This record gives sequence, structure tokens and C-alpha cells, in this order.
Amino acid sequence: MKKIITQISEIMSRAFADCGYDAEYGAVTVSNRPDLCQYQCNGAMAAAKKYHKAPVLIANEAVAAADGAEIFTATAVAPGFINITLNSEFLANYVFAMGGAESFGVEPAENPKTIVIDYGGANVAKPLHVGHLRPAVIGESIKNILRYRGHKVIGDAHLGDWGLPIGLIITELKRRQPELPYFDPDYTGEYPKEAPFTVAELEEIYPFASQYSKEEGHEEYRDAARRAILDLQKGNRGYHALWEHIMTVSMKDLKANYEDKLNVHFDLWKKESDAQPYIPDMIDGMNKGGYTRISEGALVVDVKEESDTKEIPPCMILKSDGATLYNTTDLATIVERMKLFDPDQIVYVVDKRQDLYFEQIFRCSRKTGLVKPDTELTFIGFGTMNGKDGKPFKTRDGGVMRLETLVGNIDDEVLAKMADRDFPEEEKRQIAKTVGLAALKYGDLSNQASKDYIFDIERFTSFDGNTGPYILYTMVRIKSILAKLGTIPEAVKTAAVRERGAAETALLLTVTRFADTVEKAEAELAPHKICQFLYELADNFNGFYHANKIVGEPDEAKRNEWITILRIALAIFGDGIRMLGFEAPDRM
Ligand code: ARG
Repeated sequence: MKKIITQISEIMSRAFADCGYDAEYGAVTVSNRPDLCQYQCNGAMAAAKKYHKAPVLIANEAVAAADGAEIFTATAVAPGFINITLNSEFLANYVFAMGGAESFGVEPAENPKTIVIDYGGANVAKPLHVGHLRPAVIGESIKNILRYRGHKVIGDAHLGDWGLPIGLIITELKRRQPELPYFDPDYTGEYPKEAPFTVAELEEIYPFASQYSKEEGHEEYRDAARRAILDLQKGNRGYHALWEHIMTVSMKDLKANYEDKLNVHFDLWKKESDAQPYIPDMIDGMNKGGYTRISEGALVVDVKEESDTKEIPPCMILKSDGATLYNTTDLATIVERMKLFDPDQIVYVVDKRQDLYFEQIFRCSRKTGLVKPDTELTFIGFGTMNGKDGKPFKTRDGGVMRLETLVGNIDDEVLAKMADRDFPEEEKRQIAKTVGLAALKYGDLSNQASKDYIFDIERFTSFDGNTGPYILYTMVRIKSILAKLGTIPEAVKTAAVRERGAAETALLLTVTRFADTVEKAEAELAPHKICQFLYELADNFNGFYHANKIVGEPDEAKRNEWITILRIALAIFGDGIRMLGFEAPDRM
């Protein structure tokens, strides 16, 4: 569907052109004085300068020439603004047409892209903690928004499974249980199918080993861990079997957390190790292309550019001891992604403190030709989730909070808020989970991703204000009105000629801005735009609800229109919250 603002802009542009002025002066914006009008055109003010004529005269001419009578009323006001208000029936009809349109009038992208989005980054053998919340929540929403516009999106978990942590776990296991067959070099039989540890044990082993290796006098332990990694890479059978156990046990747990607790679904569960086979050829190519040089024994690629205002250090490819690094893996992952998916764009949702790092990676991959010249590489850096003290969010005793604990706390808070509801206990718990997830995700997504924000459990779970539960509460209110009606009349297609009050008009106007909102959220990869829209929609719906008796309205034509509007608004709410990555209960 053609957007209303586009329709008005076209008419006004034609009007300006017909009067002999540049058509571009007809551009229309949403009014910044909603008390006066809905849209405005300020072109006459600018045209006045060029044509040396009083702006109000130009505005008057344009208004007289505009043939938009079916759509709007335009009024020129001093000193030269044009105030535009939609005809009530046009506005209502537009909303009714949205109800019958695919995706409520959101057009599919003209040139759908293939986009890989990298938004997991959890590390195996470590529990998911609050640090993993933001990439998962933001990335999932960006993925949904892009899909809504028809792009082909591949979400990749890109798990950290490479490097020292694995070596440490192997070393610690060997210290604790040297009798296991994995450590017997003469063992030729099959290894046990069952892992010699549970996920809980694994989560205890890693931090223990990490701490132990850093302590005084444990150099030998540290060396053993490094050697274990090398042996693993060289194909040590026993270590490889252990590594597979670590992966199986850990992945199962990570999947359960991402999917069941966070409603986050990756299409790909790739790991850093999957990129390793691409490294030798990649480095070979970089060397042959003459892009590399040796700096203090290390292999590096210079990535600074003349226009830089700050120092951008070279991108290191190999350490002086020949070992690969985090950089090498990310570059090789780009090679892998280009080979597997040939994407038009790769989006990274990673802590904003890694922005310089990604600048190096992006420049290096462009310079060395790992990507095509027109492959877009996009870094969405997110800010920190802080506690109420303004410092990074921690548990009460200063530790890192597990994601499960955080989610559990939110659910409990919502449950407490619903104490007076006499729903069956099990249903209540289920609702609390649904509402809790909305509180958590909306609390995060309603902020611009790059900003730090304060995790405020009371505010996030409040049923009032700019919160997830408020959006859900509004949806539940609409659902209950519709349920009260019993039978739902057929959707109205043509609006009656009648007076529409301020609250109804405000609601209709907000609904019409859905497509524009989705397009902006997509262009800027900005879920907070969807939040803003849903909040406005909820507020305007509630304003309308309080101003009118919907079910009791005696005028049937009017009531049927209202029911149609309710259904459309509810469906748009539904698509909106699904883009944010949560669902609504039937009651709460
Ligand atoms: N595993 C990394 C960490 O814990 C985050 C990975 C982010 N993604 C990436 N492609 N580098 O810091």
C-alpha cells in the first residue's frame, strides 16, 4: 500500500510544480503540532527565499492548486505553513484496507538481501549469563524485522569453542580422573558414549581450572593446557572424543536456554572451530596478495587509512609463536560465510567495546578481498546492562548472574503482581513466563541498542508505562472485548460518513504509521522504533477505550467499524511483539 505521507507529498509536489515552483517544496512531514494538524508542508517557507515572494502567497497558491480533496484538507497559515488534516473517511478506509492487505500494508523489500546475522557469541562449557542477554535479544529482533520485510536472514550462534578454555578443561579432567581412557595413549577401543561429566560439573570445572592456571607456581598446568590444545588440533583421539563430549553436553544446555528461556532461535549453530579449516588458505592468499608484513615476529595487515582521526592499529593475523587469534577466527568465519551463503550483508551484534576490533576486521577483509566490494559489513554495538547502582549488573554478592536466574527472578516478580488473580496455579505460572519474557525483552529493546541501560525489575514488570507488560495488557484488553462480543461481525470495508472523535482519530492515525515504522526499524536495524510505535499504539488504544463504550455502542455501523479497528490493531500488535521476540497471553 502506498503510504499516506507519500500520497500527500505527491499531491502537494504536483501542486507546487503546477504553480511554477520546484516540486520538491511539496514534501510533507508528520506534524510536530498534532493539536493543529496531522501533517504539514513547510515548502513555501523555503520557496519564498528562492522565488523572492511572500511565503504565505506561495502557500495559498499551492493549497488552491492541490487536488487532494478526497484525501485531505489543506490550509495555509501565516507566515507560510500548510497544515494538513486527513478526511475522516479516507483515514478510516485506509485502516480498513490495511486490515485486508498482506503484512498490514508493509511492502516487501524491493531488493531482498541475503543477510547473515552473528548474534550469539556464548562460550561453550560456561553457563549463559546476563552478558549474553543483549546480543540474543537485540539480534533476534533484528532478524525478525528483516524477515518481515522479506529478506533472507540466517541467524548464526557463532559459539566460542576455540582456544584455551578447552585446553584447561581437558587438563583439569586429567588431573581429577587420570584413569579415564581418553588419557591413555595406548587405548585403541571405542570411547564411552556418555560424557564423564554433567553440564553442572562442566560449569564448575572451567572456572576452577581457569583460576587455578592463573595462580603462582602453576606455570606447568598452564603449559599443559596449551599443549592439550595443540594435541587436540593435531588430532589426539582421546582429546577429540572429550571435546565432542564437551560440545554435546554444553550445546544441549545452551540450546535449551536460548530457545526455551529466551525464545531465541538460531538457524545455524556454528562454532569458532568450524572456521579453522579456512585459515591456511586465507593466510596464503593474504601473503600472496602482498597484504601482510611481519611486525615484531607477528603477521599483520595494516588497516589504517589517511582519513583516520584516531589510531587504527594493524590487524594481527598470527602471533609471533605462529598461533592464531580471535581475529584470525573472525576473518576465517567471513571466508566461510561468503563460501556457504554469499551474503549481501553480515551484521554483528556484539558489545560496543569491540567496535575498534570490528573496524579492523572489516577493513582487513575488504583490503584482502575476503568479501566482495559491495558486501556490507555492519557492526551493531550494544551498551552495558547496568544495575541500579549504575555499574554493570551483578548478583547480590557481586558475581556474574546466570541468565536462568535473571529470567526466574523476573517471572517471580510478575507472579507476585498477579497474586490476586484467581487463575489456576499452572496457568498463572505460564502467564508469568510469557509476561516476564516480554518485560525483559521490551526493557532491553525499548532503549537504543548502543546505549547503556539500567535493569530495573520493578519498572520493567510494571503493567503501566512504557513496558512490555503494558503492551501485553493492552492486547489482553482488546482480546477480552472481542471475547465479550461473542460473534464477531464481518470486517468493515467502507467507512460511514460520520464524525470521529479525537481519540478515535488518534488511534486510526497511529495504526496507519505501521509500515513507515517497520521500514525505519529495518533501515536502521533499530528495534526500539517498533517499541516506540507499540507504546504509542497502546496509549492511543487505551485513550479510545476510555472515551467510548465499545461493546455497548447502540449505532451498529459505528460499533462494527470499531470492532474492525480493534481486530486490526490487535493483529498489528501481534506482528509487532513477534518482531520483538515475544508473545501475548490470553489473560493476565
Ligand atoms: N565469544 C565472544 C566473547 O565471549 C563473542 C563473539 C562475538 N562474535 C564475533 N563474531 N566475534 O567475547
